[in-house]
Amino acid sequence: MDRRNQKTKSKLLIEILKDPERKPIFRITAEIISLFYLYKTIPRHYFSKYLFKKDRTNVKDYFPNKFLISIKPFFNDQGDKEVLENKLYFNFFYNQFNISIPKILMYNNKNIFVVDNLEREVNNVSDFKILLEKIIRKTATADSVIIKKTYGSFGGESVYKIFLNQLATDPETIKNLYFEVTKSAFLFQETIIQHPELDKLNPSSVNSIRFDTFIDQNGKADIISAFIRMSINNLCVDNVSSGGCMVAIDLQTGKLKKDGFSSLKVVGVKILTEHPVTKVIFENLSIPFFEQAKALVIKTAKLTPGLRLVGWDVAIGALGPILIEGNSNYDAGGNDISESGYRKNPVFRKILHEINYL
Ligand SMILES: Nc1ncnc2c1ncn2[C@@H]1O[C@H](COP(=O)(O)OP(=O)(O)O)[C@@H](O)[C@H]1O
Ligand SMILES: [Mg+2]
Repeated sequence: MDRRNQKTKSKLLIEILKDPERKPIFRITAEIISLFYLYKTIPRHYFSKYLFKKDRTNVKDYFPNKFLISIKPFFNDQGDKEVLENKLYFNFFYNQFNISIPKILMYNNKNIFVVDNLEREVNNVSDFKILLEKIIRKTATADSVIIKKTYGSFGGESVYKIFLNQLATDPETIKNLYFEVTKSAFLFQETIIQHPELDKLNPSSVNSIRFDTFIDQNGKADIISAFIRMSINNLCVDNVSSGGCMVAIDLQTGKLKKDGFSSLKVVGVKILTEHPVTKVIFENLSIPFFEQAKALVIKTAKLTPGLRLVGWDVAIGALGPILIEGNSNYDAGGNDISESGYRKNPVFRKILHEINYL
């Protein structure tokens, strides 16, 4: 997301002051002070989690992001993280099991590219183009490929979608991509074709589900929460930090809840109830293959007992769920919002118990 499009702090403050849905100033002040005493830190989450809105009456159920970040190292082995952090290792590892993941068509390290188990040296844009054309033509739709950084990137920051026709019509983009790709390591993935129901919600990106899972002290894996994300500004990535929007999913029914949250810095104080472009209403929209998606993340979580607290990205294809990636450092702030506060969540309470917070 281009930071220049983000609202400044003073602009946001004015928006909050003018928001007809905000609580009275004295109540906001009192709540901020009480949260400061509760958490011994400035409760920035009071704003980023929309707790200034009149209908947020349970402000103490939400946690500061600082706290949510601080608990991760307790549950996740630093060495084991590599299987999720490196997207190539992720692919090699999960491919061994009966788990649907996007197919890798090619990957590179600097100017060495690997296609069909053969290495190729690429030293100029035109050779790069030839390889791109070759791999795109091999895909099911034969019209695009997803290119992403192998490691050290998140939030949809280094994810690109290139269409076959761009090879001829958009030389500038291809040239820039060539220089970026050959500076480090990237992988080139088949574009996921999402389920038609989710395409109706928003066709510009694959709208993935973020599940977070927890493995308790007895080795039982549970889903803590789930929400769906979608771009609301025609991007090919759905991440909220890239300007996307998230809507909570009821874990029992697989239906969307009412509210769509974006980032306060991008969209401002407005909470959406429909997609601004497609106008699809969020509430009660049913996620296809939701039971299968839940089973997929439980199965996957159990494969790495050293990683006990993980956020998974799952797409829904025409034939079932597809695992995009896992994050051991996921931003649980989104789940805290979608759960209307983690504190009452039964699985999250197990976490709080284990760290002696309760
Ligand atoms: N193979 C793919 N096909 C289509 N869209 C994809 C694919 N991989 C990723 N995306 C889109 O890009 C987003 C970010 O990709 P992801 O691999 O999770 O990277 P990051 O680590 O930056 O979050 C996904 O949530 C999805 O919307
Ligand atoms: Mg992701």
